[in-house]
Amino acid sequence: MSTRTVQEKHRTEIPAHVPADRVFDVDMYALDGIEDGFYEAWKRIQSDDIPDIIYTPLTGGHWIATRGDVIDEVYRNPDRFSSEVIFLPKEAGQKYAMVPTRMDPPEHTPYREILDRSLNHKQIQDAEAAVRQAAIELIEGFAADGKCDFAVQFASIYPVRVFLALCDLPMSDAAMLGELATNMTRPPGDTPSEQAKALDEANQGFFKYVEPIIEARRGSDRTDLISVMVNSKINGKPMDEDKVLGLISLLLLGGLDTVVNFLSFLMIYLAQHPDKVKELSEGPEKLLRGTEEMFRRFPVVSDARMIAHDLTYRGVEMKKGDMILLPTALHGLDEKSNENPWEFDPGRRKIKHSTFGQGPHRCAGMHLARLEVMIMLEEWFKRIPEFRLSPDAKPRYFPGIIAAVEGVPLIWDKK
Ligand code: HEM
Repeated sequence: MSTRTVQEKHRTEIPAHVPADRVFDVDMYALDGIEDGFYEAWKRIQSDDIPDIIYTPLTGGHWIATRGDVIDEVYRNPDRFSSEVIFLPKEAGQKYAMVPTRMDPPEHTPYREILDRSLNHKQIQDAEAAVRQAAIELIEGFAADGKCDFAVQFASIYPVRVFLALCDLPMSDAAMLGELATNMTRPPGDTPSEQAKALDEANQGFFKYVEPIIEARRGSDRTDLISVMVNSKINGKPMDEDKVLGLISLLLLGGLDTVVNFLSFLMIYLAQHPDKVKELSEGPEKLLRGTEEMFRRFPVVSDARMIAHDLTYRGVEMKKGDMILLPTALHGLDEKSNENPWEFDPGRRKIKHSTFGQGPHRCAGMHLARLEVMIMLEEWFKRIPEFRLSPDAKPRYFPGIIAAVEGVPLIWDKK
């Protein structure tokens, strides 16, 4: 399906265990039909005449789960589908060194406990004031103008500010961190090797940034997120240096590009559906339920698992070391999982999605993400109750490990 000629050169040979009727050309970094929209492009490979597991020879060659129940099951079964490598191309994924995303249980468990202690519901409620302040300052910065470029003036700044506040770091670091995050999740380059190099450089950039911060906070009694993590113990012992680096870097990365792009996808939709804005503005309960539905409708992550040992899964023979891509867009938007999935229905019950993953690695920051979204909308609706996409808007969509959208000009009547 891809027309990217450079990738064509890097098309891998189809391994002997892959049946010909499972092979489809799908380039996760250059999806066919992306100009029509990110979700529309992924949905092209979800239909009754396409199997629920397919294989692409592009991006180093890998399986793809095309149905929600497969995505859900693969995430939940680390014994068969390992996190040893989670980014594609595999060559780039092997360079990615953030902790504990590449560990399987039981090694993963004590690290995860630290994450959960630091990012649990109560801790996050305590952060509400910092989140609200970041939202209000940004919205008030442009509310009187009657317009903004939402992706540039809000989405790309808000989660970075929230996170820098939680970690007690200077706001002036925001732009640099944002750029590193983008290079990790959409590594530039036309070949797996070039992408691996870009990802490695971004990864090292994160490490270089957090190293002196870790040193300064080791042994301190500060209560910011980084100090709490640095001074946590693993199985009763202080954490190894490289593990601390990986853990703190992940904390920074995990909450950046994900929230940035989720918010932009959401606002493009809301700007074109004033009836939904009205419904969500009816009260906090509507917003609370609506937030879950937003996560179902606008997933952004497509990461992967590595086959842990030779196996036959749903009738497909897979070999140890094969990779399987899990485009989370294809769970929330699968009509077999959610009736009428294109419809954003803030009152929907029985919502099924894997937007935050599933199983042991399910997003440790989802309470923070929920809070960020709810507070942003509350403060936005108070100040800008009616808004629309500028008539000359031409959003550009970018697939990848985290989908991105650029060009989100919003307009509203000045007061
Ligand atoms: C809309 C926003 C977000 C989305 C869609 C999202 C999505 C995800 C997904 C799909 C995973 C699982 C990856 C895997 O299993 O391979 C994950 C893990 C993770 N997320 Fe998020 N995330 C979001 C926001 C955040 C925020 C705000 C933080 C804040 C720190 C965060 C921190 C993490 C961490 C630390 C993990 C790794 C957990 C582990 O390996 O046990 N995320 N996220």
